[in-house]
Amino acid sequence: MIQIAPSLLASDFARLGEEVAAMDAAGAEMLHIDIMDGHFVPNISMGYCVVKCIRPASKAVFDVHLMISDPVRYSPEFVKAGADIITFHLEAVEDPEATIKAIRDLGVKVGISVKPKTPASAVLKYLHMVDLILVMTVEPGFGGQKFMADMMPKLREISEYCKANGLDPYIEVDGGIDENTIKETVANGANLFVAGSSLFSKSDYKEAVKNLRAAAESAL
Ligand code: DX5
Ligand code: ZN
Repeated sequence: MIQIAPSLLASDFARLGEEVAAMDAAGAEMLHIDIMDGHFVPNISMGYCVVKCIRPASKAVFDVHLMISDPVRYSPEFVKAGADIITFHLEAVEDPEATIKAIRDLGVKVGISVKPKTPASAVLKYLHMVDLILVMTVEPGFGGQKFMADMMPKLREISEYCKANGLDPYIEVDGGIDENTIKETVANGANLFVAGSSLFSKSDYKEAVKNLRAAAESAL
């Protein structure tokens, strides 16, 4: 099943509540919320106060992507604020297994993410413990970057490993996803698609989500 997660980072922050509600009405299953600490990545975005404020504006699953150095410390606040899925970066932590357990104990779904330079081999052993694997298709930190097609072999390795081992996590891609690039990611096993600038730049969100979904389905 194809699921779409618009990335809030590309929205108009001056009208955040309206933007969130409009994407919800557009039929996206999830809302992707990028949290950056200026340390793990060279940018600062938003914190849990923002998540809490927008929670009432949407029925979508809140897919919180933590690009921060200390996910275990801050996850409880994000759960209290309304996160449904918390994804941390493999590269940010010393003990991924303990991190997975700490987040799961908060009662939410757990995702693990890999930056472009991290190989599939580094993450395969954690896949049976998580609900979501996020393969970054840009360097994390900024929206509007060019899709890295050279991540496709890694995506395929991960999706084939899941199939071979009877695992069925969300296989999420994030960065430079639009109506063209989404097709390659579908062909390589992705089933959850983050899209920031390609959706929020359109005037009709409903039409934009529908077209992105149709493009993905055409590649199934
Ligand atoms: C980048 C973020 C992405 C970003 C995607 O670090 O993780 O979620 O918002 O933006 P686009 O779709 O514009 O590449
Ligand atoms: Zn993201």
